[in-house]
Amino acid sequence: MLAESWNRVPPALPIGRYTNARSSVSIVAMYDDMVAVIENRPLTGGHFLLSLDAPRQAPAVRPGQFAMVRILGRSDVLLRRPMSIFDVTAKEGRDGGPRRARAPRILKLLYKVVGRGTRLMAELQPRDKVGLLAPLGHGFFEEEYLPRAHESDEILHVAGGIGIAALLLPAKRLAEAGFRQRLFFGARTKDDLVGVQDFKPLVCATLSATEDGSAGYRGFVTRPLEEYLTKHTDQKFLLMVCGPWAMLRATVELAKRFRHPCLVSMENRMGCGLGVCLGCCIRVEGEGHEAYQRVCTEGPVFWAEKVVWETERKLGIRD
Ligand SMILES: Cc1cc2nc3c(=O)[nH]c(=O)nc-3n(C[C@H](O)[C@H](O)[C@H](O)COP(=O)(O)OP(=O)(O)OC[C@H]3O[C@@H](n4cnc5c(N)ncnc54)[C@H](O)[C@@H]3O)c2cc1C
Ligand code: FES
Repeated sequence: MLAESWNRVPPALPIGRYTNARSSVSIVAMYDDMVAVIENRPLTGGHFLLSLDAPRQAPAVRPGQFAMVRILGRSDVLLRRPMSIFDVTAKEGRDGGPRRARAPRILKLLYKVVGRGTRLMAELQPRDKVGLLAPLGHGFFEEEYLPRAHESDEILHVAGGIGIAALLLPAKRLAEAGFRQRLFFGARTKDDLVGVQDFKPLVCATLSATEDGSAGYRGFVTRPLEEYLTKHTDQKFLLMVCGPWAMLRATVELAKRFRHPCLVSMENRMGCGLGVCLGCCIRVEGEGHEAYQRVCTEGPVFWAEKVVWETERKLGIRD
């Protein structure tokens, strides 16, 4: 039953495939479509939830994957912008609820306005079109992390700011499979604690921290995390983390100190998102060519111990 739900094959037909040599996992390839905006809902703190009608991409999504969004008709924003795939759902029925037994069709992106591209995204209206290249990246491969999840008493999701967007789909899959989960969510201020409602049915508890103390713990999220790990040294955890570099690094240090396996979802600057430009490479354990991996294709999710954290900051991950 458990294995069945994890090994479900996406119903959409792929237009191409490649294999991740390191994990021998065959990856369903991406679709490049112009898709319609269904809703672009403003949230607090300059965040938006963008729902796109993506009938080919949504069913092919695996937890942890991302999309590249192109604003059409703007030569001043040529490059697509990478966004984690926050959620995929079926199209809503007439009563407002999701139609059951239908393939996912709506692809949702949770984003924060930080610059020109995301400002233009914030102006999108229902029925506008955007270019959507998705799904991309190998994501949180069940084949890689499920065995470690089974060895754990609890899965700890650790999100920093908009990093929360990368963790909902993994949390949904893990909840489907019956895993106990807990969310640690850190942000600058309470307005940045977006998306947390979606986690409520999936996790046994959420611990929030804000740097200004406007909600939850005052300070960095790694403090309540450290307290929790210190109190529960008799338990095994699997950590899944996404957030800014300093927070990733601090969380990875904690995971190492308490000897828990840790998966990180990296958000390096990206050019192509397709493995071509090499602009997103990170330094990993290994020699020569083996010492670098592309966040867009071999990632964005990596086992923390594979990443050489000392060099990471120089290679463009967000602070
Ligand atoms: C795999 C991946 C998944 C991502 N998921 C999300 C998501 O779900 N929601 C979301 O809001 N953002 C996400 N990001 C970050 C997002 O891509 C950037 O915020 C966006 O590209 C900025 O575009 P812009 O034109 O608005 O800003 P720009 O004008 O290009 O830059 C404005 C500011 O944003 C910073 N910035 C630019 N690129 C990145 C980046 N890759 N990561 C962090 N900061 C950046 C710049 O340093 C600068 O300070 C993700 C990035 C990656 C690589
Ligand atoms: S973004 Fe171009 S290779 Fe990764």
